[in-house]
Amino acid sequence: MAARKLLLLPGDGIGPEAMAEVRKIIAYMNAELNSDFSLEEGLVGGCAYDVHGKAISEADMAKALAADAVLFGAVGGPEWDSVPYDVRPEAGLLRLRKDMELFANLRPAICYPALADSSSLKKEIVEGLDILIVRELTGGVYFGEPKEIRDLGNGQKRGIDTQVYDTYEIERISGVAFELARTRGNKVTSMEKRNVMKSGVLWNEVVTATHKTKYPDVKLEHMLADAGGMQLVRWPKQFDVIVTDNLFGDMLSDIAAMLTGSLGMLPSASLGAPDAKTGKRKALYEPVHGSAPDIAGTGAANPIAMIASFAMCLRYSFNMVAEADRLEAAVAGVLEDGLRTGDIMSEGKTKVGTVEMGDAILAKFQALAT
Ligand code: NAD
Ligand code: IPM
Ligand code: MN
Repeated sequence: MAARKLLLLPGDGIGPEAMAEVRKIIAYMNAELNSDFSLEEGLVGGCAYDVHGKAISEADMAKALAADAVLFGAVGGPEWDSVPYDVRPEAGLLRLRKDMELFANLRPAICYPALADSSSLKKEIVEGLDILIVRELTGGVYFGEPKEIRDLGNGQKRGIDTQVYDTYEIERISGVAFELARTRGNKVTSMEKRNVMKSGVLWNEVVTATHKTKYPDVKLEHMLADAGGMQLVRWPKQFDVIVTDNLFGDMLSDIAAMLTGSLGMLPSASLGAPDAKTGKRKALYEPVHGSAPDIAGTGAANPIAMIASFAMCLRYSFNMVAEADRLEAAVAGVLEDGLRTGDIMSEGKTKVGTVEMGDAILAKFQALAT
């Protein structure tokens, strides 16, 4: 079999620290499980700006487009707060999403049994939680034009962002949500704000029509996105799959992260459409969290979101389902053993750093393989 081509883009802040733990797992899989991953590496974010003057070079963009899958760490930090908007670290991630056409961002929020006490919410609210946020990732207010700060010439400026959605964009993201719902709890909740936004009215119409024509067997409900945020905190277990736009999905997934114990727990998969000939999808796997400048360099970062993003990569890009299951079981296992990084509330548990957590997960993964 041809090598599985992975591009690693560790990025800034805690990105490289978390990626180092994934690298160990890949090295083990190549050495002991004949997994045949070939690794390339590139720069994205502030570290790319420092070298190339922009957040991702054309050469690294080309590598991303040629890879079977991209593993992305995190970008950004106060060092680059004043660099021009178009080349700031986050622009590298947005370019990757747009140019790779990664319109579907899957953000699962699972409360591991060992962490049911670690949420800021009561145990009974989060225990057993397993929801999936399907976030539209290449449209909406992130990319709509015009997008500018306009000088009005009277001493005033106007900041403009434009929320735009076309029918096909809503059809394809809701299709992903309905398909995934069929493999889990068979329910989709669509969130928008049709009460104030035209794009919300269209979103609601298109999701409803897609459901009626192609997925009538799946239960569909609609919720205004602000109420959805409230319901996520009130009783999150009412949800199975949530489908929503780019900006609401960004905010709702950070909220969902705290149901699982920490933002450092949440992985994600950003997927393109399957190729008509090969069926392969372009894909980038990224933790939901950022570069955590407040703890970067201290060895305290939780690597679980990054490792669980790699598990999603095994599952979605390489169909290595057994290995993905085993890696997720290894994560659950070390949490069961009482290991906690500093971001997880952990009375009476063993506090560990990034490397110890990564080592423990690898050891558990190895033990589960034999
Ligand atoms: P953040 O996610 O970086 O951090 C928020 C809080 O969560 C911090 O207190 C941080 O220490 C903690 N945290 C996050 N991940 C953690 C982990 N794995 N282990 C332990 N603690 C963790 O969000 P922010 O502070 O708002 O943003 C910092 C920078 O990251 C900004 O430049 C922002 O644009 C960028 N950002 C990047 C991404 C990405 O690259 N995908 C995502 C979000 C934010
Ligand atoms: C995320 C991040 C990104 C987003 C930023 C860094 C561009 O917050 O992936 O959740 O807003 O999409
Ligand atoms: Mn975010």
